[in-house]
Amino acid sequence: MTVKTLPMNDELHSYVVTHGTPPDEIMQDLIEETERSLPGNAQMQVAPEQAAFLALLTKLVGARHVVEVGTFTGLSSLAMARGLAEGGRVVCFDISDEFTSVARRYWERAGVSDRIDLRIGPAAERLRELPAEPHLDLSFIDADKTGYPAYWAELVPRTRPGGLIVVDNVLRDGRVLAPQDASDKAIVEFNDIAVRDERVDVVMLPIADGLTLARRR
Ligand SMILES: C[S@@+](CC[C@H](N)C(=O)[O-])C[C@H]1O[C@@H](n2cnc3c(N)ncnc32)[C@H](O)[C@@H]1O
Repeated sequence: MTVKTLPMNDELHSYVVTHGTPPDEIMQDLIEETERSLPGNAQMQVAPEQAAFLALLTKLVGARHVVEVGTFTGLSSLAMARGLAEGGRVVCFDISDEFTSVARRYWERAGVSDRIDLRIGPAAERLRELPAEPHLDLSFIDADKTGYPAYWAELVPRTRPGGLIVVDNVLRDGRVLAPQDASDKAIVEFNDIAVRDERVDVVMLPIADGLTLARRR
């Protein structure tokens, strides 16, 4: 089989990142504060080019009803909130008051607080609070990896035809080929569930740590 994928190196990656819309000052401050104040957890934040991609996707689907599972300090939710159509909302789920207190400050500063509804608690349970009908335009799954199959099960039926579900870390630094821990195994299981799910069309993109895009049929 001919391989059509260009192998990435640091120089080429840097070229890719510098040729997309860069983070503005608020996002840059959020990235720097997260690195400074949460050094042990900062790697959980989405990459800046992923944030730009999420903002673009939000605009492309004309999203008004958005869900995020895994908010942390708020970079991805800020990106999606900025891309919302008039009157849109992002419902964010996270278990941490500490992490999301940083997010709240940046949403305030960016003037998007009124477009974000943060719900603290285990997402597998809290997602069931959402209306059962297919109303979601866009969801972003980026929380604990062992929860992905449960988040998928809650979100697919709530996604409208043509709506998107975006899933982060689907490559686990390449360990999907040789899973080591429970999170790796959960992602392998999740990736198999997603590709076999006849309710969606699925594309896995090698962006950052792997990003799956699923469009509801
Ligand atoms: C990878 S981070 C999210 C990064 C975020 N999307 C960003 O752009 O910065 C994962 C988040 O999931 C949250 N989390 C972990 N387990 C959870 C659960 N069971 N329910 C809801 N959130 C959870 C963590 O508190 C953490 O903030």
